[in-house]
Amino acid sequence: MAKDPVRVLVTGAAGQIGYALVPMIARGVMLGPDQPVVLHLLDIPPAAEALNGVKMELIDAAFPLLKGVVATTDVIEACTGVNIAVMVGGFPRKEGMERKDVMSKNVSIYKSQASALEQHAAAGCKVLVVANPANTNALILKEFAPSIPEKNITCLTRLDHNRALGQISERLNVQVSDVKNVIIWGNHSSTQYPDVSHATVKAPHGENHVRELVADDEWLRGEFITTVQQRGAAIIKARKLSSALSAASSACDHIRDWVLGTPEGTWVSMGVYSDGSYNVPAGLIYSFPVTCRDGEWSIVQGLSIDEFSRNKLDATAQELSEEKALAYSCLS
Ligand code: NAD
Ligand code: LMR
Repeated sequence: MAKDPVRVLVTGAAGQIGYALVPMIARGVMLGPDQPVVLHLLDIPPAAEALNGVKMELIDAAFPLLKGVVATTDVIEACTGVNIAVMVGGFPRKEGMERKDVMSKNVSIYKSQASALEQHAAAGCKVLVVANPANTNALILKEFAPSIPEKNITCLTRLDHNRALGQISERLNVQVSDVKNVIIWGNHSSTQYPDVSHATVKAPHGENHVRELVADDEWLRGEFITTVQQRGAAIIKARKLSSALSAASSACDHIRDWVLGTPEGTWVSMGVYSDGSYNVPAGLIYSFPVTCRDGEWSIVQGLSIDEFSRNKLDATAQELSEEKALAYSCLS
């Protein structure tokens, strides 16, 4: 029997990530090849015409799984009945703007979109925040949508996770699909900590540890980390635009694994509400290693953390605490 369509909201849908993401969702990359979808696309009035163009292209592509498109600049219409919300829309930093100015704009966007989701989304709606500052936007959304369970509000660090897999695969000249269990800890920013302490590469009989295969701790603790931390800036320098296809693809990976589950023995990185695991302050949206089952994520427990890693986990937590304080100061 055919499944009922899932309603997926994409905010900022007329932007460049939106343009890469919506066809992926409509092709089943996010929710599977047998899952029909209805797309809800939101953008702001100056982008209404471009948004309508995206809708026209979605119709023209004749995706078999796509059962409808709601393209609107009305946040309530956009949020009504949605089962999954991918929050890509936000206010970008412009020349001459202070950090606080950008934070203030995004805090007010995420505050009002939180209320619309809380009141109008379907019960159990899962939320993924992509727009920067992703962790703190997700935190504000959580604060202003108190009836949405905190487990349902996450932010995207899967792109950083995939970037780390990519760097290891290039370095070792192995298939990226054979590398697993890297971890991104903390903020989706240059203080994030890409950690390979527990990462492995598939071997003919079992698995080998990345640390043993690379056997160059200086690279693993130096260039590898900074390359992943600064990859977003490197893409902007090269493209004169921030990452879009890799961000869209990683957003699909995030939701797919959350809804359909992570493979046995594999974890992924997600920005989730901290419960104090690994002595990360509770009450931050922080990227942890997680496994997913039956539509729920759980933080992987019991991993050993050496002193080098501890310092890095704490530094990115400190930055998130400062961002949280800044966001709250914008509310008052
Ligand atoms: P973009 O400027 O091309 O698109 C953003 C869209 O959001 C625009 O169409 C804009 O009109 C819309 N928008 C602005 N305010 C809105 C609002 N209140 N409601 C709905 N829509 C609104 O930007 P992009 O390249 O698509 O990137 C989107 C965001 O994703 C940026 O914040 C970027 O920094 C972030 N990003 C995050 C990651 C990650 O891994 N977390 C990776 C790449 C980019
Ligand atoms: C990325 O990681 O590619 C983006 O978050 C960069 C950015 O500043 O938009």
